[in-house]
This record gives sequence, structure tokens and C-alpha cells, in this order.
Amino acid sequence: MQSRYFLISVIVTVLLAVAAAGYLIPVEKQEVQARVVMDNTGGRVIFTHKFHADDYGFDCTDCHHDDIEADTFLSCGSCHPKEFDADFRANHQNNFPSEEACLRCHDDVPTGELAEEDRPDIENIPLRADAFHAQCMDCHEENGGPYGDDTCYECHAR
Ligand code: HEC
Ligand code: HEC
Ligand code: HEC
Ligand code: HEC
Ligand code: HEC
Repeated sequence: MQSRYFLISVIVTVLLAVAAAGYLIPVEKQEVQARVVMDNTGGRVIFTHKFHADDYGFDCTDCHHDDIEADTFLSCGSCHPKEFDADFRANHQNNFPSEEACLRCHDDVPTGELAEEDRPDIENIPLRADAFHAQCMDCHEENGGPYGDDTCYECHAR
């Protein structure tokens, strides 16, 4: 009996400590996932998010250029989809925490169907893979890291 109570109080203490740590560690540190796994037709890419953010010495905003006063950064795919297709048109509105985000691409916050002249110019908004290839490789060319035609498999799994 005694030892069971001891065990329970140890477990409770550990849980309380974990909860307190979660509360005390600053949000910014907490939200950096160690790795981001990206499945795609070129072969899976494992992006070492935490190394890039901490060890390689970059600021969050060097990559997260979505300046929309959100509490946390949005996934790149919220704005850089695989295609600007019917699915994007129907659902992208739900990706954003505020109407301010709409103005990143729209001249006014849309309220219903868009007139032809009010449609965002998608020529200037890169699709997901182009956005990644451009951002990853531009920085690598300047600061080290794989870029260029013979380095595909340093990022992509075969
Ligand atoms: C070298 C570029 C880079 C740096 C520096 C960086 N990130 Fe990221 N971050 C990414 C990429 C790429 C993703 C994956 C986005 C995706 O899959 O759409 C990501 C994903 C995220 C996500 C998950 C978004 C979601 O909902 O899926 C959060 C939150 C985040 N980063 C926060 C941060 C914070 C906080 C910092 C700074 C401490 C930071 N990032 C630094 C590139 C970076
Ligand atoms: C809130 C929407 C939004 C989010 C989230 C977002 N982008 Fe963008 N991005 C844009 C828009 C809009 C453009 C078109 C040019 C512009 O207006 O800045 C763009 C342009 C780009 C470009 C073209 C070069 C440049 O900087 O103009 C790259 C590369 C890029 N984004 C990469 C990323 C990556 C990588 C992420 C995630 C870490 C990301 N973007 C997150 C909206 C966003
Ligand atoms: C990354 C850029 C981007 C952001 C951010 C964005 N949109 Fe859009 N939106 C588009 C594009 C691109 C289209 C499609 C234009 C076309 O049909 O050629 C579109 C279309 C729409 C449409 C018309 C849908 C249809 O069926 O034709 C509505 C409504 C809309 N957006 C609302 C919003 C709202 C509300 C927000 C903010 C909460 C928002 N959008 C944020 C790029 C964006
Ligand atoms: C803002 C600059 C920057 C951006 C953006 C960036 N990287 Fe890097 N990356 C680096 C640096 C610096 C290194 C370390 C080079 C060295 O010292 O060997 C690196 C190393 C790497 C490496 C090899 C070591 C490791 O950590 O795995 C891979 C793979 C890699 N990056 C993938 C990516 C991918 C995928 C993206 C885009 C989603 C990306 N990087 C975006 C700067 C960047
Ligand atoms: C710096 C890392 C890096 C290098 C180097 C790189 N890629 Fe990628 N590649 C990515 C990332 C990140 C994505 C986007 C993954 C996602 O959509 O989730 C991607 C996506 C792709 C896709 C999917 C396209 C789509 O529309 O879905 C193909 C195909 C591809 N890469 C081929 C290549 C080839 C070929 C090379 C060499 C010439 C190469 N990549 C080099 C990181 C890299």
C-alpha cells in the first residue's frame, strides 16, 4: 500500500514539473519544431528547423516573412499552396488568424465572390515548391548548405 502511494506522488510531482516547465519556457522557443518532414514527388525532405533557427544563427523572420502580426508564424503553405486551384480558392480563407492577413494578397478584405479585376496577381506569389527551392537555395548559396543542380539528394531522400 505504502509503496503505491509513493509511486503515485512521484508521478504527480513529475507531471507538475512538466506542466510548470511548459508554462515557463517562452512561447518562441517552445514552438520551434526540431525537424519538419516534407513529403513530395522529388523525395522526402527533412528540414532541420531547430539547427537552422538556433545553431546556424538566423532570425525567425529571415525565413518567416509573413509579417501579419500573428501570435505565431503560419506555415508557408498557407500562402504558397501546391496549386492555386479550386481547393485553395474555397479553403485558404480559413488559414489566417486575422483579416489583416488577407491584405497580404488582396487589395481589400474580400466579402464574397471576386470581380475579375480584384483577383490577386498569382504571377508574383510562388507556389510551394518554388518558394522553398528559392528560399532554401538562395540562402545556401550565400551562407553554405546545399544548392545547385548536383545537390538534389543532399535535401531529397532517394
Ligand atoms: C531557415 C529558415 C527558418 C528559420 C530561421 C525559422 N523557420 Fe520556422 N519554419 C521554416 C520552414 C521551412 C517551416 C515549414 C513550413 C511548412 O511546412 O509550410 C517552418 C515552420 C515553422 C512553424 C510551424 C508552422 C505550422 O503551423 O506548420 C513555426 C511555428 C515556426 N516555424 C516558428 C519559427 C520560429 C519561432 C523561429 C525562430 C526562433 C523559426 N521558425 C525560424 C523555416 C524557418
Ligand atoms: C501570409 C502569407 C505568406 C506566408 C505565410 C509566407 N509567404 Fe512567402 N510570399 C507571400 C507573398 C504574398 C509573396 C509575393 C511577394 C510579396 O508580396 O512579398 C511571397 C513571396 C515569397 C518568395 C519570393 C521571394 C520574395 O521574398 O519575395 C519566397 C521565396 C517565399 N515567399 C518563401 C516563403 C517561405 C519559405 C515561407 C514560410 C517560411 C513563406 N514564404 C511564408 C506570402 C506569404
Ligand atoms: C497568399 C495570398 C492570399 C491570401 C493571404 C488570401 N488570399 Fe484570398 N485569394 C487568393 C488567390 C490567389 C485567389 C484566387 C484568385 C483567382 O481566382 O484567380 C483568392 C480568392 C479569394 C476569394 C474568392 C474565392 C472564389 O471562389 O473565387 C475570396 C472570397 C478570398 N480569396 C478571401 C480571402 C480572405 C477572407 C482572406 C483572409 C482571411 C484571403 N482571401 C487571404 C490569395 C490569397
Ligand atoms: C537563411 C538561410 C537558410 C535558409 C533559408 C535555409 N538554409 Fe539550410 N542551411 C543554412 C546554413 C548556414 C547551413 C549550414 C551549412 C554548413 O555549415 O554546413 C544549412 C544546412 C542545410 C543542410 C545540411 C545540414 C542540415 O542541417 O541538414 C540541409 C539539408 C539544409 N540546410 C536544408 C534546407 C532546406 C530544405 C531549406 C528550405 C526549407 C533550407 N535549408 C533553408 C542556411 C539556410
Ligand atoms: C536545399 C534543399 C533542396 C535542394 C538542394 C533541392 N530541393 Fe527539391 N525540394 C525541396 C523542398 C523543401 C521542396 C518542397 C517540399 C514540399 O512541398 O513539402 C522540394 C520540392 C521538390 C519537388 C516537388 C515539386 C512539386 O511541385 O511538388 C521536386 C520534383 C524537386 N524538389 C526536385 C528537386 C531536384 C531535381 C533538385 C536538384 C536539381 C532539388 N529538388 C534540389 C528542397 C530541395
